Amino acid sequence: MNKPALLQLFAILSLMAGILAGPSALAQTSLIQNAPARRVLSLNGSWNYILDPYETGFYDYRRMPFDQSPSGKGGYYDNQKPSTAQEPELIEYDFDHSAALQVPGDWNSQDAKLLYYEGTIWFKKNFKLKPAAGKRYFLYFGAINYEAHIYLNGKKLGMHQGGFTPVQFEVTGKLNPSGDNFVVVKADNTRHPEAVPTINTDWWNYGGITRDVFIAEAPETFIVDYKVQLAKNDPTRLTGYVQLDGAGKSGQLVALNIAEAGLRQSLKTDADGRATFSIPARKLQLWSPQSPKLYAVTLTNGSETVQDKIGFRTIQTKGQDILLNGKSLFLRGISIHDENPLIPGRARGEGDLRMLLTWAKELGCNYVRLAHYPHNEIMLKLADEMGLLVWAEVPVYWTIAWQNPATYQNAETQLSDLISMGKNRASIVVWSVGNETPPGEARLKFMTSLVRKARALDDTRLIAAALELHRDGSQVTVDDALGAELDLTSFNEYAGWYWSDKLSDVPNYTFDIKYNKPVVISEFGGDALAGYHGDANTRWSEEYQEALYQNQLLMLSKIAGLRGMTPWILADFRATRRQHPVYQNGFNRKGLISSTGVKKKAFYVLQDYYHRMAQKYDGK
Ligand code: GCU
Repeated sequence: MNKPALLQLFAILSLMAGILAGPSALAQTSLIQNAPARRVLSLNGSWNYILDPYETGFYDYRRMPFDQSPSGKGGYYDNQKPSTAQEPELIEYDFDHSAALQVPGDWNSQDAKLLYYEGTIWFKKNFKLKPAAGKRYFLYFGAINYEAHIYLNGKKLGMHQGGFTPVQFEVTGKLNPSGDNFVVVKADNTRHPEAVPTINTDWWNYGGITRDVFIAEAPETFIVDYKVQLAKNDPTRLTGYVQLDGAGKSGQLVALNIAEAGLRQSLKTDADGRATFSIPARKLQLWSPQSPKLYAVTLTNGSETVQDKIGFRTIQTKGQDILLNGKSLFLRGISIHDENPLIPGRARGEGDLRMLLTWAKELGCNYVRLAHYPHNEIMLKLADEMGLLVWAEVPVYWTIAWQNPATYQNAETQLSDLISMGKNRASIVVWSVGNETPPGEARLKFMTSLVRKARALDDTRLIAAALELHRDGSQVTVDDALGAELDLTSFNEYAGWYWSDKLSDVPNYTFDIKYNKPVVISEFGGDALAGYHGDANTRWSEEYQEALYQNQLLMLSKIAGLRGMTPWILADFRATRRQHPVYQNGFNRKGLISSTGVKKKAFYVLQDYYHRMAQKYDGK
């Protein structure tokens, strides 16, 4: 057999081996709880990047993955330099002389040529970190949309799918002793039918490294996970666990200390490195939106101390009431995308996120729906601090590939990671398993499995989803079978925008809701171009949106079990489906605040309603 044929055969055999082995993903360390508290080096800032729509940095010209080719060389992740040999190899890329993007940040909003880009971009960052003996190191990304292949010093760490949950790999023993290291990320935001979300969404497909990146350091045996919350429906008892990781994890003493509450508990880990606890806690000041009390919680094992700020509250439903700390409340909410409309682009960090939540507070909210995917961990901590209850959600959105086992596994992994990241946040009261998913047998099986997974992971919070409904004239029926599995009856309704031509029809809608559970409207609203004025019948005008809200609130207040709402949406946001050349130009204009930060007239209609509801429920 001649050489080329032999090479061809080898190439085919190794490609088959690669496919059988599945994606070259090394098992990820379980997500470190409160990872930012372990940060020793931020990798935020300027990253060189290479645009790679043809995947030239990943496959050779025969579409053989470089990391499975005989030489294992050639991929952009090698960061090869031209050799000094007589006939140096032709290297047709050079990170160090390439342009840069800011991380965290989506690429679409950083360069006009990337606004609509869907595909691969390679990122590279040099960093100095000398590994210390006896320490463990983790490379941590808050989020990369959508599929990421990660390399450290030219060697693959693994692959991650999912654009809104943390990506973490242990790199102990893989950092150069010299301290000189480089990380390469292949980020690919291409949409796929079998992905979560699937190919169709009503938000911008922002690609890239969109949240903080850092190296976390921990001792050989460290506190990898913990949960410290009130027992289910019991404000007098703290329960939870501490999980150690490392050679010395079993039989270790761990101290749980909440000094301000006079709580100090010594725990001992079992053979698996886990210590569970259930301790009386009678003097805790409970967390609530009116009084968002956070306690300094300290966990200490032999070699490290982890600090967190945690609030304690109970949440439950009773018939059609939602009880926070045993008291009925009304969820004065608003839906929010993870986007700063003033960029416009993905929210990059605390400044963007605090601005969004400050607008929500100004609106009179005690609650936010963080749609349609896991938001930044910083957002969850700000909600704790600012006193906003949270509906957190996974992007099981519209027409997911219900029959595909890998799709379900992806959705369940994103749900598990969301719950892991958010389980100590008092603000989170709802885990939502999806939005507007079309009823059917396969969908019901898929969603019911997600609901049961959520309950198994955390039975202290409410489980919900934005259900589907159907209409016959002005009679709306909510009997989506998924509703039987949930704690709330939530649905998106668009009377006055998608449903009826005349706003005066809106108050005539009636709702036949099959479940005796609290009703929390997960969306309603309509588009308005800020500054475009007309009368209440002029669609797209501020006056139309204002009248729509007035009529909606009239209609909704007739629903006996109404206990909350999150109108769609706080601010205008980029959406590729929205291309009306006068009113939209690539933006969904249902925001109560425009993409230039201007409050539209409807903002004040909702703000007035919420002030009245606050007096009714909170007596303030
Ligand atoms: C849907 C969907 C939102 C979308 C909104 C709209 O209900 O849940 O993601 O943006 O309607 O049509 O504006």
